[in-house]
Amino acid sequence: MEYIEIDGGRELAGEIELSGSKNSALPILACSLLSDKPINLSNVPDLLDIKSMINLIESLGVNIGKKNNNYILETKKILSHEANYNLVRKMRASFLTLGPLLAREGFAKISLPGGCAIGSRPVDLHLYAMKKLGANIDFSDGYVIAKSNRKGLVGNKIDFPKISVGATENAIMAAVLAKGETLINNAALEPEIVDLCNCLTSMGAKIEGAGTSKIRIEGIDVFLNTFHQVITDRIEACTFIIAAAITHSSLLIKRINYDHIAKFLEIMEEMGLEFKLINEAIFIEKGKKLSSISIKTKEYPGFPTDLQAQLMTLACVSNGKSYIEESIFENRFMHVPELNRLGADIQVKGNNAIINGNCSFIGAEVMATDLRASVSLILAALIAKGKTKINRIYHLDRGYENIDYKLSTCGAAIKRGKHGN
Ligand code: EPZ
Repeated sequence: MEYIEIDGGRELAGEIELSGSKNSALPILACSLLSDKPINLSNVPDLLDIKSMINLIESLGVNIGKKNNNYILETKKILSHEANYNLVRKMRASFLTLGPLLAREGFAKISLPGGCAIGSRPVDLHLYAMKKLGANIDFSDGYVIAKSNRKGLVGNKIDFPKISVGATENAIMAAVLAKGETLINNAALEPEIVDLCNCLTSMGAKIEGAGTSKIRIEGIDVFLNTFHQVITDRIEACTFIIAAAITHSSLLIKRINYDHIAKFLEIMEEMGLEFKLINEAIFIEKGKKLSSISIKTKEYPGFPTDLQAQLMTLACVSNGKSYIEESIFENRFMHVPELNRLGADIQVKGNNAIINGNCSFIGAEVMATDLRASVSLILAALIAKGKTKINRIYHLDRGYENIDYKLSTCGAAIKRGKHGN
């Protein structure tokens, strides 16, 4: 089992280049199942979750060529209709193969993803959308069995009772091949949804309203060859901005998209962080201690739940008392006990955390529990007194490409090791 060890207290300097967005690349890889034409996809991050999705879609029939972060994907024929439990349990985004398989083949057998560290992660909204498009849904041995009749899926109105990124993505991909018009109401607005729709449109799909809560899709039956570049990762961008803020360093972070992180930058400004936007980069000024903050995580464009753990670490060393309410997932405070072991003073009451600031982190051995919690421990370790050893860092490698390398090139004393050697 690999671990990361950090010797805290170093100031950072230099520049970091962002990677492609994990949460954009995953649905786009899944949508390659829809088309029999080549998709040239660039800027795909090199992550464990991407490898899992690649393995899954290859098993379903996608032919894949890879050169560095660029892929050529082509699905002349679907070879299997089953996303099996071993692959899906490792990465719940595998459930995004439901829509494309059902739309193209009229049949899909997808393992229920089950819960994870941050919550039960139900899929009822995904299944609601498939039913609205005419699918018959059954369950057997922990699998969803989805079938459409001979005519295939038929366009319809899909009124989501609750906003869901994944369910919106599955609905869009299924609707692209459904006959006639589909209207999705209460769609998720995330930039990753817009990127998926841009890729589908370049493949020949007819989609209006991506990035708004109302998306209209006209079904097609012929696809085009396409080239698409995945957007950069907004969560990685904000994680590195917090790394600069927490170490009082000046850093240049390249390839950001300001619009994707506007709400986060508003919160950083409120806390007193100074920065400059220079074309597609952000320069974080070497700064003083920041002020406390009160936030509630919300669907996009609100403050992202995927940044909640990272902001909490910053709040631990800011002036005063901060308040964080987690409104998206029911159990996303797993990083709190580990941060408290490093010297934080955080109380949790239900979905609310109260963070007493001005703490001094002292290095210790800690354990990563989920992707974003693991990076909140890295941020604390960067300023902790002494050494911190973070175990189970496969969580980290699921969503951050070469984060130890990127931080070490900016002066962090960070190294990766393996238990048992
Ligand atoms: C996506 O997950 C992201 N993952 C998550 O990022 C992110 O935290 C989440 O959106 C919210 O922004 C990917 O894009 C691969 P949801 P997703 O469906 O689609 C409930 C990371 O760290 N819900 O928008 O699974 C659900 O329980 C990951 O990169 C239902 O009730 O999230 C949650 O409370 C973690 N029924 C809320 O909706 C459903 O059918 C939002 O979930 C589906 C979801």
